[in-house]
Amino acid sequence: MPELDLPQRQAPDALMLTGFWYRALPADRVHRNQLHKATLLEIPLVIGRDRVGHPFALRDACPHRGMPLNRGQFDGENLECPYHGWQFDVHNGQCQLIPSLTSDQTLKVDRIYAGSYPCEEQDSFIWVYIPDPGLPGAGFTQPSEAPDAAPQIEKFSAKYKLAYLQAEMPVSIDHGIIGLMDPAHGPFVHQAWWWRSRHSIHEKKKNFEPIPNGFRMSAHTPSSNSAPYKLLRLYANAESITTTIDFVLPNVRTETIRAGKCWFSSLTTVTPITRNHCRIDVVAAWNLFRWLPFGPDLLKFVFAKFVEQDRRTMEMQAEGLKHNPHLMLIDDADRPAKWYFQLKAAHLEAKRTGAAMKHPMAGPVTLKWRS
Ligand code: FES
Ligand SMILES: [Fe+2]
Repeated sequence: MPELDLPQRQAPDALMLTGFWYRALPADRVHRNQLHKATLLEIPLVIGRDRVGHPFALRDACPHRGMPLNRGQFDGENLECPYHGWQFDVHNGQCQLIPSLTSDQTLKVDRIYAGSYPCEEQDSFIWVYIPDPGLPGAGFTQPSEAPDAAPQIEKFSAKYKLAYLQAEMPVSIDHGIIGLMDPAHGPFVHQAWWWRSRHSIHEKKKNFEPIPNGFRMSAHTPSSNSAPYKLLRLYANAESITTTIDFVLPNVRTETIRAGKCWFSSLTTVTPITRNHCRIDVVAAWNLFRWLPFGPDLLKFVFAKFVEQDRRTMEMQAEGLKHNPHLMLIDDADRPAKWYFQLKAAHLEAKRTGAAMKHPMAGPVTLKWRS
């Protein structure tokens, strides 16, 4: 009998993991000397670029009286709060000036900080590192540093193309992620005459293995009804095409497809905006279709269609979730979702105890489902 399981009901702070990099805004929307608002994990941010184009991210609240700093004046280096004119260095949040101080007042201005977050530009996005709470990097606390660099798309040649797509979903990060890794909705949600019908449903068998902080669908020939596969068959014979799909905490799905010298990589994230709202960002890089003028557009068309179908589905799902219904996870189709919840719980437990994270998978596993 298949094992039935209930998704754990998690406390909101367990929904959104701190101590990770998150995509904040598409890089081409953030211009020099301009201020933009963004929200990550319910934290209001002001994001911009300095005079030479380097991005920055500050908490969108002045440490003096909470004024939103996005309403302030920015000279390309310092941001001036519109309430009392305190000025902050945008890269570390350090206070530079308090105009009301008289020359004999000894308040140490440089010990005051606006909350500031590590910020990087990577593959078309501005990424922001959200540290664990308790290190807000504001008031009299210095900003924390990120322990590693923001995730990058793997590329296999010097020349490649890059494109991104995004969609907002009115569901929690957990529903966004398990929807992304769910193999069983394909035939019902992603139908199109040029693509597949629900009648193409067939049994599939895939191998999975544990990787640090996540799991991998081991390299395999893509299933005959997957989009990249259909496109790639234009370039290489079916047997030479392999695809690898990884999921790693907190929210990253990477897919790498290789067919001889041709490759296609994508890095998809589901970003928690608030506890009931997430955003999916798909960034793809590829070296295919270079001789085909409509190639990138075709690819974008296919992916945009997919993402829009998922978005519409989650919009409907949000209606049903409003009243907090009981839910279930079944084997094997929902096993990746179970691993996701187990990985999260193991990660939080390791953080709590300071011990090494105990991976929920003991070794390779084969899953079967129809899709
Ligand atoms: S609230 Fe920002 S300077 Fe007073
Ligand atoms: Fe989907």
